[in-house]
Amino acid sequence: MWKFKNKDAFEECIKDLLADSSVQEMRHIPQHTKNISCLDHSIFVAYLSFLICRRFHLDYKAGARGGLLHDLFLYNWRDKEHEGHHLFNHPKIALKNASEQFELTDKEKDCIVKHMWPVTKKLPKYRESFIVGCADKICAALEMMRLFRVFGVQAKLCAAV
Ligand SMILES: [Fe+2]
Ligand SMILES: [Fe+2]
Repeated sequence: MWKFKNKDAFEECIKDLLADSSVQEMRHIPQHTKNISCLDHSIFVAYLSFLICRRFHLDYKAGARGGLLHDLFLYNWRDKEHEGHHLFNHPKIALKNASEQFELTDKEKDCIVKHMWPVTKKLPKYRESFIVGCADKICAALEMMRLFRVFGVQAKLCAAV
């Protein structure tokens, strides 16, 4: 099921982001489930967004980069101080952190800040933003069902980049 032929093109889209220390910091931030870091999740979302955008002849670079940065909130959301607000606030925090580190296109910014739609109200402006939001939900569900490892995503993708 897991096709890997696009890996080189994917890496070309995100290699400068991956070299950044704030992106690498996500390696130490937990996400939806045990043993899958925020960076693992973000790479998964980035790759799925990249594949879908490429399939439909959309801006796959924006999908990959927006996907990689969509959860750059850089704190443990299970800590009490973030309880109740994280769901709504983290896209804005991720956008702020990402904007401080990188020159982002409007499309990349929209992918980050709208990825929680429809939980957050503002509609995605671009098809790529909608795709990143869908990829995020699919990846989160696969991670929580423990299918992340069954399909070898972590071993093949996250360990490789
Ligand atoms: Fe998120
Ligand atoms: Fe996410």
